[in-house]
Amino acid sequence: MNEFVTLNTGARMPRIGLGTWQSPLSEVKSAVKAAIDAGYRHIDTAYAYGNEAAIGEALQEVFAEGKIRREDLFITTKLWNTFHRPEHVRECLEYSLRQLQLGYVDLYLVHNTVAWKYQPPPSLGRAEDDPVPFQQTWHAMEELVDLGLAKAIGVSNACGAMLWDILAYARIPPAMNQIELHPFCPQPELIQYCLRKGIQVTAYSPLGSHGTRAAAGDATQNVLLEDPVVRAIAAKHHQTPAQVCLRWAYQREGGRLCVIPKSTRPDHIRDNLGMCGWALDEADMRQLDSRPFYRFFDKIEMYGVPLFH
Ligand SMILES: NC(=O)c1ccc[n+]([C@@H]2O[C@H](COP(=O)([O-])OP(=O)(O)OC[C@H]3O[C@@H](n4cnc5c(N)ncnc54)[C@H](OP(=O)(O)O)[C@@H]3O)[C@@H](O)[C@H]2O)c1
Repeated sequence: MNEFVTLNTGARMPRIGLGTWQSPLSEVKSAVKAAIDAGYRHIDTAYAYGNEAAIGEALQEVFAEGKIRREDLFITTKLWNTFHRPEHVRECLEYSLRQLQLGYVDLYLVHNTVAWKYQPPPSLGRAEDDPVPFQQTWHAMEELVDLGLAKAIGVSNACGAMLWDILAYARIPPAMNQIELHPFCPQPELIQYCLRKGIQVTAYSPLGSHGTRAAAGDATQNVLLEDPVVRAIAAKHHQTPAQVCLRWAYQREGGRLCVIPKSTRPDHIRDNLGMCGWALDEADMRQLDSRPFYRFFDKIEMYGVPLFH
């Protein structure tokens, strides 16, 4: 199974990355350093995560220690909803680059395909809706590639209709669609469409965003790592439920997806690399593919409308 996917730009992207959403400022720097020490070469962040500066410090330290060079790492960050107007797209990336202390990112994603009114950095709050045609945003994203500020561009949370639209006018087609993907939300048709169109897929929240719902007071149901089928398959293979979920995503589509579990715990960061060393059998995959559907991020709370159906 490949450790890398090849993007439609020809660049190689490590399939396993460290997620950093909700990684607190006090912990994300050591998490990134622990991940790089453990062998991760791909870090996923976003303007909206508010932790790019601490990640930048971690990167500077590992570069200064001579452990690794910039070109050995694959860094993804994302354009926030308040910067979709074409005149603000470059501003958002340049802000992120200053925080990350980098000259370019390997992949720049539009975080969500809907826009809010502009707010200057580092503002993050909910702003009013802004009717920006996505085509304008996408053409501004393409200019970032021309300028060498982003090696590749893509989208996140894009449904099939949105991708269909982008492909109609893109001079540079999206290299990636980063989507929610775990056994409660397998999305096979969307993945297959993406791959047919040369758009790679990254699985976000591969552990069901463990803890996020509990923190929001919803601990009673839909905890992926406590799902009886996930737990039974874990017991059968002498693995943890987390390993089963990560391996399921890693093994899908003949091993063509990227997976970005978040952790700030050094033991989890190391354990999560273990998704490469063993395999689920076909019966396990079938069972995991057919869990009851549940999307943790329907985005209704953010936008007042489901973005995906
Ligand atoms: N594009 C988007 O809209 C979007 C949306 C959501 C997420 N993402 C990206 O995807 C990444 C991952 O998604 P996520 O953060 O929602 O959730 P996730 O990776 O599914 O789950 C993270 C949670 O699982 C725990 N965990 C990690 N490894 C574990 C293990 N081996 N055993 C048990 N628990 C473990 C973590 O706690 P500890 O830290 O204590 O280990 C954390 O509470 C994000 O960080 C972000 O980079 C993108």
